[in-house]
Amino acid sequence: MRYSKISGIGHHVPETIITNEYLSTIMDTNDAWITERTGIKERRWINPDKDTVANMAAKASRMALQRAGLTEKDVEFIVFATITSDYYFPGSGVLLQRELGLEGIGALDIKNACSGFIYALSIADQFIKSGMYKTILVVGAEIQSSALDVSDRGRNTAVIFGDGAGAVVLRPSDKPGILSTHLHADGRFAEELYVKDPGGSRPNKERQPEQILDTSGFKVHMNGNQVFKHAVVRFMEVINEALAANNMKKEDIDLLVPHQANLRISQYIQEKLSLRDDQVYNNIMRYGNTTAASIPIAMSEAWAEGKIKENDVICLAAFGSGFTWASALIRW
Ligand code: COA
Repeated sequence: MRYSKISGIGHHVPETIITNEYLSTIMDTNDAWITERTGIKERRWINPDKDTVANMAAKASRMALQRAGLTEKDVEFIVFATITSDYYFPGSGVLLQRELGLEGIGALDIKNACSGFIYALSIADQFIKSGMYKTILVVGAEIQSSALDVSDRGRNTAVIFGDGAGAVVLRPSDKPGILSTHLHADGRFAEELYVKDPGGSRPNKERQPEQILDTSGFKVHMNGNQVFKHAVVRFMEVINEALAANNMKKEDIDLLVPHQANLRISQYIQEKLSLRDDQVYNNIMRYGNTTAASIPIAMSEAWAEGKIKENDVICLAAFGSGFTWASALIRW
């Protein structure tokens, strides 16, 4: 039987640190509100003169390849999760392929928001198990800062999101690495967390002139209370589904790496699963919510800090726009 295994992991975040204190100088917010509601203290924003989604992804990918003892030339396929691709189209997968000098290999883009990385991992897992490819780069990368509305109007979302990239290298193994993945969606809630334009069903001519000329960025609409309520239920469901599928109990989890949506959501899951602090990895305090990049950045940091060891059982879980939610159970 052929399985897939993560053989290297890397990440990259932009240099510029944006603190809660800085945000409170440009919009009506404050450190106490942000910290209490979300746990976030700071996030990274790109320098538009040098950072792109694809070049941050390339830096994360090179780190992952180097840690796997491989080079760019070994990569046979790219699965790229992002909702903030450099261009409206094509997706950033082809741009990463170009950055890495891998002309000709396939590149697939995934637009499943905060669950995007686990969806991408699941797809790569099937390609490895089927024997179609031997080395796949699975990437999550986002630039959200350029799309945030940093006026008072946008404060409920602008304080939450950040920029960054993470990547893993997936390779075949004769022992199980990715034990299982579980993917879900419920489109009835699409409009609870979404960006409406530019949408194909809303041609420019139907928009008001001020909307066409508005350069203050995408309008992220988020019904925070609804997102929170659904997130806590779906996170628990999908983690329990992964444990049940592998005949494991919550005590078998060595490290839970939840999508970094909100520290309160992570703490709620930790309490429900009765996990110790050292069994849950959080870095939202430093990076905010980086959507598809959050899980690979967190996994990469946890690995570098020695918190992920050979044979450990790692549980990934995510919830986000769609709504979509997903989990993966991994034997490292
Ligand atoms: N700074 C200060 N005040 C703010 C603010 C900000 N950045 N954003 C909103 N407020 C205000 C609101 O205007 C409101 O004021 P009012 O009571 O005078 O009307 C008040 O704070 C409470 O707003 P509310 O939206 O009810 O707060 P909340 O307790 O639900 O917290 C979130 C908001 C967004 C932090 C919370 O709903 C949440 O975390 N939801 C999940 C979001 C998430 O995880 N998204 C990503 C999914 S992947």
